[in-house]
Amino acid sequence: MISETSKKKPKFRLHPTAILNSQRLRSSLMDTYDQKSVYKYIIGVILLGLSIGSLFYTDKLVEELEQREEREVQLYAEGLRYVVNSPFDENFNVVYQVIQDAVNFYQIPAIYVDENNQANPNLNIKFPKKVKPQERERIIAEKLAEMKLEHPPITVDIGKGRTGYIYYSNSFLLTQLRYYPFLQLSVMLLIGYLAYLAFSSARKAEQNRVWVGLAKETAHQLGTPLSSLMAWVEYFRSDPAIDPSIAEEIEKDVIRLEMITTRFSNIGSVPTLRQEPVAEIVSDFIHYLEKRVSSKVKFGVHNELAVEQTALINKNLFEWVIENICKNAVDAMGGIGEINVTLQAPPNTKEIWIDISDTGKGMTKANMNKIFNPGFSTKKRGWGLGLTLAKRIIENYHSGKLFVKSSEVGKGTTFRISLGANIIE
Ligand SMILES: Nc1ncnc2c1ncn2[C@@H]1O[C@H](COP(=O)(O)OP(=O)(O)O)[C@@H](O)[C@H]1O
Ligand SMILES: [Mg+2]
Repeated sequence: MISETSKKKPKFRLHPTAILNSQRLRSSLMDTYDQKSVYKYIIGVILLGLSIGSLFYTDKLVEELEQREEREVQLYAEGLRYVVNSPFDENFNVVYQVIQDAVNFYQIPAIYVDENNQANPNLNIKFPKKVKPQERERIIAEKLAEMKLEHPPITVDIGKGRTGYIYYSNSFLLTQLRYYPFLQLSVMLLIGYLAYLAFSSARKAEQNRVWVGLAKETAHQLGTPLSSLMAWVEYFRSDPAIDPSIAEEIEKDVIRLEMITTRFSNIGSVPTLRQEPVAEIVSDFIHYLEKRVSSKVKFGVHNELAVEQTALINKNLFEWVIENICKNAVDAMGGIGEINVTLQAPPNTKEIWIDISDTGKGMTKANMNKIFNPGFSTKKRGWGLGLTLAKRIIENYHSGKLFVKSSEVGKGTTFRISLGANIIE
């Protein structure tokens, strides 16, 4: 039974500076998030600038090298012309060798096609070992076809009305250089991505430390006034002049405060999980809550679990999550409406789903993406921490999931807690 006194909760008014401070903290939390995305953009723009710069630079290099290679092939052509046209002398071979070496130096594949369409000689064409003559011809024909598409041939006028052509393609180096910027870009993106991951995980770890510190400190600080309050309760009890129901009510509130303190200190340490009957815990806690919120909110618990199932949970923290979600639901309904909690075990999964639905004002898609960010609140006096903590508790400590299953503006919202993998069948 709940006495009248506990139903009528005393109304606390926050001191104006407290409100101001809360708003200030909230907006500073929001600022951190906005700044984070600004940094992301700046880094993105720098990366893009570097990539474009490198692309242009390599493109210039490629162009230069291409011109140089063309010149080399022309030199080769010139050499051939010289060799063919010059009267035979003993320097013939030396000259030819020098020219050929120059082309070889750049590893430019080239094929000379004479006036009878004979493809010979060729330079820098790779053949497999022990190649048969037929195979060799086929490879040359193939290469020639490729070369014809790549560059216009260089004409070699060998005199007496005879003309030959040198076909050539880019050297291996040049081809590599062409693809290099893309390789570079991918490497840069990969490094950028890894850096971002490292950065954000470091930041998350930092945030976690702040949360843990805050929670532990709060719990610690509350300890002293709580034990003093407990002593006062005993004192009131021993005084016959004071109505004993007052002491009883104060004691209830002190016990509740102690529960909150335990929850806070639980956040810091790795909470102990036990196999608990989920349905029982949920329905017991909903009944507990029901008595503490406005009677205009109707609660319903629908247990659709076929058999009694247990999951590994920390009762205190888990109840806190349910409480946070239900309190938000009550806020969203303006204190009038229905909250339905449904427990299900979807077939073929080792999961338990706990859906908490309300008939409140719902939320927009844009807000849905932000509600788990610390500091996000649409309420005048909201801290925007409830769902952040709830998500942390479910996901980090219970290896479960907490998300908005559905929400429609003006109709209501359903949150889903999915406890996974810990269920004993
Ligand atoms: N059941 C709900 N229906 C509509 N909006 C909700 C609901 N639950 C949470 N929200 C939205 O998410 C925000 C963040 O919730 P929470 O983290 O608990 O912080 P707070 O309650 O302090 O605002 C709320 O301000 C509200 O806009
Ligand atoms: Mg809340």
